[in-house]
Amino acid sequence: ATSIPADDRVPDMGKRQLMNLLLLGAISLPTGFMVVPYASFFVPPGAGGTGGGTIAKDAIGNDIFADQWLKTHGPGDRTLTQGLKGDPTYLVVEKDRTLATYGINAVCTHLGCVVPWNTAENKFICPCHGSQYNDQGSVVRGPAPLSLALAHADIDDGKVVFVPWVETDFRTGEAPWWA
Ligand code: FES
Repeated sequence: ATSIPADDRVPDMGKRQLMNLLLLGAISLPTGFMVVPYASFFVPPGAGGTGGGTIAKDAIGNDIFADQWLKTHGPGDRTLTQGLKGDPTYLVVEKDRTLATYGINAVCTHLGCVVPWNTAENKFICPCHGSQYNDQGSVVRGPAPLSLALAHADIDDGKVVFVPWVETDFRTGEAPWWA
């Protein structure tokens, strides 16, 4: 009977350890690669270190500064800006000339038309099928089934920043349908 020489077994052990390492690597490497694109997928483009928020942009794509905005937009003003995920979002100026802490997503909850603000009627009126929303975006006439979505309008470093609204909808007292 011949015993296996010790120096024949050593490379075998080495090979097995190498195989184990490769196997581990095969499992953990793709996981590591997946985490980064996956995480960034959910961060809206243009979110520059604002913790999930997006700097509001005006019609020509410039960052909106709250002070500047309030100089040119009076009480009751509702003007479209670029909001979260590029959605058209109304920035609201309150009667006391401050910015409202919420923005109103202008995408109609019926079939997605952008809903214009009608100053004379004090409502948002959808040109597509006539849905109406009050001055806070609550649906007051169908066929739209739901109120317009909200976003927080925060001020960070002087700039208006929209942040996803995941809390209770203050208009309905219900969970937000869009979150
Ligand atoms: Fe607005 Fe139909 S899309 S009423």
